[in-house]
Amino acid sequence: MAKPVGEITRGTTGHNRLRRVDRWITAACGRLLRSADRPLVVDLGYGASHITTLELFERLRAVCPSVEVVGVEIDPARVAAARPYERPGLSFRLGGFELPVGRPPLLVRAFNVLRQYGEAEAWEHWALLRSRIAPGGMIVEGTCSEVGHRATWVGLDEHGPRTLTFAARFDAFDRPSDLAERLPKTLIHRNVPGEPVHAFLRDFDRAWAVNAALGAHGARQRWIAAARMLAAAWPVAVRPPLGGEGRWRLGELTLDWAAVAPRNPGRPPEPTADVRDR
Ligand SMILES: C[S@@+](CC[C@H](N)C(=O)[O-])C[C@H]1O[C@@H](n2cnc3c(N)ncnc32)[C@H](O)[C@@H]1O
Repeated sequence: MAKPVGEITRGTTGHNRLRRVDRWITAACGRLLRSADRPLVVDLGYGASHITTLELFERLRAVCPSVEVVGVEIDPARVAAARPYERPGLSFRLGGFELPVGRPPLLVRAFNVLRQYGEAEAWEHWALLRSRIAPGGMIVEGTCSEVGHRATWVGLDEHGPRTLTFAARFDAFDRPSDLAERLPKTLIHRNVPGEPVHAFLRDFDRAWAVNAALGAHGARQRWIAAARMLAAAWPVAVRPPLGGEGRWRLGELTLDWAAVAPRNPGRPPEPTADVRDR
């Protein structure tokens, strides 16, 4: 077998850490999975325990009983540790970004994997993953905090990134831009003046501040109002399955990737005038 593409990195994981993204996946991709006879899903880089892969399997089986899930991990010891938990429809195997599975997967979840690579590498690995999915398939790549209360992720198809989603527990942040520390690798270094994602987070904070009074009815109402206000200026999803009040009330917000894409993907951001002049 050829050497898997990638490197072994820290294996941190935990029960329910990926609950938020799994909830989004079942809403956003349930129909896609049900459209196939034997839909194959890969959980790439599941870490030191099989647990988040098992949770993904159970959540997807609830919306698509025929789904098969394969956990792919680049660390042989982590594959050996997960194998005892295999069951019909759920298996674990050694591999990397080349996705060594029997047929092209319809869905790939890669969480807290690319953050440990360089920005340019992250773009290359996105391209490799995109070349490996089934036609019409999706990749969900993102990052979250240790216990999963702050998360962001990108939805990609074979042509490129399509959406960016922010998700948080309402008591896990003071203002929306606190989620910037969990941006995917391709955006984390772009939260600087002059980059679109920085402008978006600035506007998100403003909308959050303007709607502060609604906090008296709970942070949920405040988030919903901020999302509605943002949608007037940014391509925020406003209808199911990705947007609208049903998603916003979960502490989620999805918008078009194109609106936040880096100005020069893969290249470090240019210093802005105020940084240059200092
Ligand atoms: C921080 S853990 C994330 C675990 C789990 N996905 C989570 O979010 O809780 C990252 C895992 O990705 C694995 N990994 C890194 N690069 C990989 C690659 N190219 N292919 C497969 N696994 C990879 C690492 O070995 C590590 O176990």
